[in-house]
Amino acid sequence: MSLEPQAADGLLRAGRLEVLGRLESASNVTLLCRISAPATTGPEPPLEAMCAYKPIRGEAPLWDFPAGTLAYREVAARLVSEATGWGIVPPTVLRDGPYGPGMVQLWLEVDPSIDVVELIRANAPALRPIALFDAVVNNGDRKAGHLLPVPGGRIHGVDHGVCFSPDPKLRTVLWGWMDGPLEESELALLRRLHRELDGSLGAALGGLLQPEEVAATARRIERLLDEGRFPAPDPGRPAVPWPWY
Ligand SMILES: Nc1ncnc2c1ncn2[C@@H]1O[C@H](COP(=O)(O)OP(=O)(O)O)[C@@H](O)[C@H]1O
Ligand SMILES: [Mg+2]
Repeated sequence: MSLEPQAADGLLRAGRLEVLGRLESASNVTLLCRISAPATTGPEPPLEAMCAYKPIRGEAPLWDFPAGTLAYREVAARLVSEATGWGIVPPTVLRDGPYGPGMVQLWLEVDPSIDVVELIRANAPALRPIALFDAVVNNGDRKAGHLLPVPGGRIHGVDHGVCFSPDPKLRTVLWGWMDGPLEESELALLRRLHRELDGSLGAALGGLLQPEEVAATARRIERLLDEGRFPAPDPGRPAVPWPWY
């Protein structure tokens, strides 16, 4: 992300959205767009970036999530990511667009020299916070293709539409740490996150999710703290998304 996150949020919220094309592989309507700031009279070059725009009306219906809620879940995931300080989810906002309200997310240019499948196989340390994040948000769809390595070595995560179900749904390719002990710094972070759910983070999530979904997030954190370990696959449910990429 070359833009400062705050500038990115502002640009995503207020910029002019120009649809360039549709991503063929996506299961929801996902549009690649250019976003540009209104022209200023100052000396700065116009602010411009690429973004993904998922209009709510293009969301594929799912049996296990209420219709028209995926965009809100994507923004909720961004808020939790920001609260952790891990910066996993790129800037993501709700706004209106040419196909109606939806979520708009800064587009990341991935580093084509990095093979994310190899990183998953190797339990790359950069993926560990994402595995813990997914346990917190109850990510039902952490495919390899939703992990984006960017130049400089960081790895970001996208596609958080099927997070925050009140029911256990963790489906992920990141099982490399299953049952492994959480580090003290991770436990401290989870404690802080839990406190913030009682405050401003909880209030912000309350504007995006159902009350029981916010409450279930707190319960998942409590469970992680009680057990002091990463979750393990539940034998009664698929543990890995299909297709896995
Ligand atoms: N913000 C982003 N930056 C870069 N690539 C992205 C971004 N969002 C999505 N993509 C790419 O587009 C693909 C499809 O988007 P995704 O969010 O998975 O859509 P869907 O909800 O339809 O599955 C992703 O697997 C990823 O490769
Ligand atoms: Mg996807």
